[in-house]
Amino acid sequence: MITAKAPGKLYIAGEYAVVENGNPAILVALDQFVTCQIKASSHETGNIISHQYRNNDLQWRRQGDQMIVDKRDNPFSYILSAIKVTEEYARSCGRELSIYDIMIDSELDSDNGRKYGLGSSAAVTVATVKALCQFYQLPVSKEILFKLAAIAHFAIQGNGSLGDVAASVYGGWIAYHSFDRQWLAEQRHFLSLPDLLNLPWPDLKVEPLQAPSNLQLLIGWTGKPASTSRLVDKISLFKAKEQHAYHHFLDASRECLAKMIHGFRNGDFSLIQEQIRVNRHLLQKLGQHSGVNIETPALQKLCRIAEHFGGAAKTSGAGGGDCGIVIIDKEADREAVIDEWVKNRIEPLPLSVHFIPQIYRYHFNMKS
Ligand code: PMV
Ligand code: MG
Repeated sequence: MITAKAPGKLYIAGEYAVVENGNPAILVALDQFVTCQIKASSHETGNIISHQYRNNDLQWRRQGDQMIVDKRDNPFSYILSAIKVTEEYARSCGRELSIYDIMIDSELDSDNGRKYGLGSSAAVTVATVKALCQFYQLPVSKEILFKLAAIAHFAIQGNGSLGDVAASVYGGWIAYHSFDRQWLAEQRHFLSLPDLLNLPWPDLKVEPLQAPSNLQLLIGWTGKPASTSRLVDKISLFKAKEQHAYHHFLDASRECLAKMIHGFRNGDFSLIQEQIRVNRHLLQKLGQHSGVNIETPALQKLCRIAEHFGGAAKTSGAGGGDCGIVIIDKEADREAVIDEWVKNRIEPLPLSVHFIPQIYRYHFNMKS
């Protein structure tokens, strides 16, 4: 039996802007995991089973005569895509394909189906690719793993930055610069998968960051999960209609992130806090101009409470519900923030940043 796990993530800054090639975001990996187990099957069929996804209903809408299913919100789409891409890689490495059972266990999708927006689709993709690479005994580095999972995830979601995949592969705090996905889509037709994996991808950059020793991350969940891909679709409409305002947002976000990354490199806590506030303001303005409800009243309350106790707070990810993050001094009164959140029906998530060793090799112990 092979077991592999991949962590969930949260965006710290740079959301929406990072969807455009080469723009930066900062993310962290968290200690909540998707685990993928693989076992060779002795039958002619294999199963893909998951306790959390067993009631995964399909949602569809009508477009003329067509019944359209949005596969972007279905975890099985990501699992199947991960299998397809990794098996393509396995074939190119001369492996013979076989039949197996896959068991997925996701801490990122709670039993009652409630999601905290911690990147379960990215983590399930990464965990599946990781497990299959072990199963087929394929050589992989973090970079190869990222590229395989990014190809698989992009084939389903289509409009994301893949920052969540990077966080899940690299772990810890990272500065992620998104790669040129148009280039990837084109090259998929021309290059073999091994050639594509060995090329440097245009604009892709992942830099591990170190948080200052006095920095503490607090996470609050406001409920009401939002569909990230649909929110990104809406901002994409704004991009077409309000090009000037959109480009202004991109420039300002890039400048803000450059300063924040500088703050991490130099252990400058107050610069990081300052830029978190700048980034929050930029996202608020983007929401107002585009009519997308990024900072909901509950997220606003979460931020107001944290700011009152000396934290720098903002929405995390696409917003419209889900989580907000706070960067606060370890000496500050963390309990006071949490008490006030709970009184206001904001759920504190007691999660820690998850690190993955820099040197990363699989032990080939494939015995079931
Ligand atoms: O809502 P989340 O945590 O999945 O984050 C989405 C972040 C965006 O920048 C809005 C989209 C993306 O793919 O980067
Ligand atoms: Mg979200």
